Amino acid sequence: MVDHISTTAFRTADSIISILISRNAFILGGILAVSIYLLDFILSPRLDPKEPPLVKPSVPLIGHIIGVLWYQNDYHRIVQQKHPLPIASLQMLWGRMYTVWEPSLAQTVLRSRVPSPEPFFIDFASAVFGTAKETIQKIKDGNEHGLIPDFVDAIHGSMNTASVHRMNVTALNFVAETFNAVAEGPSGGLQHPNMYRWFRDIITIPTSRALLGKENPFDKDRSLCQTAWDWEENMSALILRPFPSVMARKPYQARAKIQAAMVDWYTAEHDINDPTVAQLVRDRARVLRSYGFTSAEIGEIESILPIIGVTNSAPTMFWMVCNIFSRPQLVDRLRDQIYAFIRREGSSGLEGSQDIAIMDVTALEAQCPLLASCFRETLRLGNFNVSTRRLMSDITVTDGTGNSYLLKKGVDIQIPAGIMHRMEDVWNNTASEFDPERFLEKSAQRGGQTVASEKAKRNAFIPFGGGRHLCPGRSFASTEISAIICTLLAGFEIEPVGLGFGDAKPGPPQLVTSLVKPLDDAQGLGIRLSRRKGWEKVQWRYEC
Ligand code: HEM
Ligand SMILES: *[C@@H]1O[C@H](CO)[C@@H](O)[C@H](O)[C@H]1NC(C)=O
Ligand SMILES: *[C@@H]1O[C@H](CO)[C@@H](O)[C@H](O)[C@H]1NC(C)=O
Ligand SMILES: *[C@@H]1O[C@H](CO)[C@@H](O)[C@H](O)[C@H]1NC(C)=O
Ligand SMILES: *[C@@H]1O[C@H](CO)[C@@H](O)[C@H](O)[C@H]1NC(C)=O
Repeated sequence: MVDHISTTAFRTADSIISILISRNAFILGGILAVSIYLLDFILSPRLDPKEPPLVKPSVPLIGHIIGVLWYQNDYHRIVQQKHPLPIASLQMLWGRMYTVWEPSLAQTVLRSRVPSPEPFFIDFASAVFGTAKETIQKIKDGNEHGLIPDFVDAIHGSMNTASVHRMNVTALNFVAETFNAVAEGPSGGLQHPNMYRWFRDIITIPTSRALLGKENPFDKDRSLCQTAWDWEENMSALILRPFPSVMARKPYQARAKIQAAMVDWYTAEHDINDPTVAQLVRDRARVLRSYGFTSAEIGEIESILPIIGVTNSAPTMFWMVCNIFSRPQLVDRLRDQIYAFIRREGSSGLEGSQDIAIMDVTALEAQCPLLASCFRETLRLGNFNVSTRRLMSDITVTDGTGNSYLLKKGVDIQIPAGIMHRMEDVWNNTASEFDPERFLEKSAQRGGQTVASEKAKRNAFIPFGGGRHLCPGRSFASTEISAIICTLLAGFEIEPVGLGFGDAKPGPPQLVTSLVKPLDDAQGLGIRLSRRKGWEKVQWRYEC
């Protein structure tokens, strides 16, 4: 009985306490919530009514920021699905950021010079290169006199036909070496435990040669290729983590090693004296030298060059191979079309007869629409780039239905390619699937597609960015990738080892690259390569 009473008493006391606590918590919570919302109300940006509509985060003030950090480039998709607007103002603390979701509006923004990525270049330099304070100050001072615009002009002015053509030739010569080294026969062939890393390996040297010429440091010390990828793989850790020398040791040390090699290279002035160096590299260095930067400073900043040239091409190649080789019928169709661009020549020399296959890559790119369509479809699905610009003055832009929006000076604006590449109203309900024929120009036969819908696709397809900052490496990348994939198709049997070609999963979208990499480097997906019947002794050459 006593027991019973005391337990009841305890229970009652218990519940009174818990009611008190929960009531307090409730009241406290209430006060907190009211003050957050009050703060939110007070701090919310006051928009001009002509600005894009405000989208508030679900967690007041900081929700969008948490979202971006958590989901990185995927965050836009999540917000856009909730708020299907042509353009919106996302609240970030008490400020705002515009984000463009309508393709034609995105084109307008990309083409305009008013929104510019240049203000971020300096922040980017200090985060990515760990640049010394004095160098950063030098960049800032130089920029008072137009350093960054001059640098951007140099990039784009240098990608003229003759110069890119030389890059094509250099890179393809090396690609030929890679394939020609594969021995024939049952004990020949080539096997690699990780297909993604194999693709990384086989383009690093040709790309560095094309950019840095015959004296490039990667040819001299092949181990630098792996070092470059160690840096690339964890570049975002270097940017996002505090004390990177301790918290991101591997990429930190890798960066130091690449920078040392590049500093030596610029100190030897190959950019000035070696005609085999790409115009792009020479012209960028020329601008930096003209603003008084030393070879050491240039080497530090330009250490990113070999990485820029491969960071998107390697995953593109990987996904394109997965997309094509997981579809046997597509492989057959492509093979049938590719043969027309390969010329076989026999020659007999001292060492016996030689069998040469010459691939006309220029014609192949221009005249094999199925290949081009597979390339574009791979870029469409693999790209999660978000271009960020800052508005250098007020402008007004107009969307497809004639609504105008005022964009204010100083605000940042983002153009998320990943969303536009997957919009169902542009790409229809198959938007998330790989369709090898999606980019074939047969609009008349394609279920009454209108000119307008073709135009919407063109506007929404921005794997290389656009406007003034359009990727200058796009045709080089396309050449390198087409040559490698077509050689694999025509001359080799390629088999997956372990997992299948369809099993690779995309990793999380990242802040630094535009092409999404395979999750965990697609560990478990190896590759076996052997020469195809009829192509056993072939020596590959490329024409471009
Ligand atoms: C499939 C391969 C590639 C993809 C998807 C790609 C994509 C891009 C994108 C999205 C941008 C940014 C545009 C913007 O901010 O609006 C860019 C810029 C750039 N890309 Fe590429 N790229 C590729 C290959 C290459 C290669 C091979 C090179 C060098 C040979 C290269 C050199 C550059 C440079 C120098 C810029 C900076 C341009 C500027 O800021 O004005 N890219 N690329
Ligand atoms: C090589 O470079 C040129 C630039 O001159 C480019 O337009 C072309 O598509 C590239 N590829 C081939 C295979 O010629
Ligand atoms: C670097 O990247 C690899 C692969 O993405 C990852 O496993 C590793 O944890 C990263 N290391 C650092 C220091 O960020
Ligand atoms: C977009 O791609 C460019 C070139 O690869 C890169 O410099 C930039 O950091 C990327 N931006 C984002 C947010 O992915
Ligand atoms: C969607 O687009 C693809 C590629 O253009 C096309 O093959 C397919 O027939 C279309 N589907 C519908 C339902 O319109």
